[in-house]
Amino acid sequence: MSSDMTRRGFLGTVGATALAASTGQAVPADADRPKSGSLKILGIACSPRPGKTTTAAVKVALEAAKAVGPAIETELVELAGLNIPVFDPAAPGSADFEKVASKLTDPKVAGILVGTPVYFGSMSSLCKAFLDHCMALRNKNFALANKVAGVVAVGGMRNGGQELTIQTVQAALLAQEMILVGDGRPTAHRGATLWNQGDDISKDEIGLATARNLGRRVAEVALALRGPA
Ligand SMILES: Cc1cc2nc3c(=O)[nH]c(=O)nc-3n(C[C@H](O)[C@H](O)[C@H](O)COP(=O)(O)O)c2cc1C
Repeated sequence: MSSDMTRRGFLGTVGATALAASTGQAVPADADRPKSGSLKILGIACSPRPGKTTTAAVKVALEAAKAVGPAIETELVELAGLNIPVFDPAAPGSADFEKVASKLTDPKVAGILVGTPVYFGSMSSLCKAFLDHCMALRNKNFALANKVAGVVAVGGMRNGGQELTIQTVQAALLAQEMILVGDGRPTAHRGATLWNQGDDISKDEIGLATARNLGRRVAEVALALRGPA
């Protein structure tokens, strides 16, 4: 096995136990645990409106990820205001995308949460532009491979196309060889599906539960794949 694969430690001792934790099984010895802050979950909010409902939902998921254990640190990146234009294969560069890409490819980043508003039953154009620019990372020897990914979708209707939106984002992430997860138990479906009611997600208890369960699940699986630091 290559050292890279060893580092990822597929279903290593800690990982298996991290997953087992939610089912009440044994907890690993301290020596087997990843060190504090050794692993990062990055949240990418792909709404053109900074600080609004997509960002709020990604923050909820990141908080739940962080709560999984001291090994986990989190960071939020908002694409709003960045210059990430429609992807043009003939002129692929974007200085702002490069800044986000350097965060994504940080070896410490073991999991990524992609949040998008629902625009006509699909992702925002900003999210699509971002994911298209990620072609550069696929071309760079699949730089995102084996990082864990979960998707957050926020719509203005309870059933406005959140699940469909999640699947379109997942399709792009699967093409990066990322490891896709949905929201964990007890909701356990495709990802975080939130309902924006007047620029507010705080009353959507079911949606908030899916965001928390997704964040937790991304962190647990990321820990599982990394094994001891
Ligand atoms: C162009 C456009 C299309 C939209 N289409 C949908 C839709 O199909 N389904 C839905 O539930 N909400 C739709 N919405 C509402 C947004 O998804 C919702 O307001 C979302 O919370 C916005 O995210 P933000 O607060 O992060 O900007 C649409 C909004 C816009 C601007």
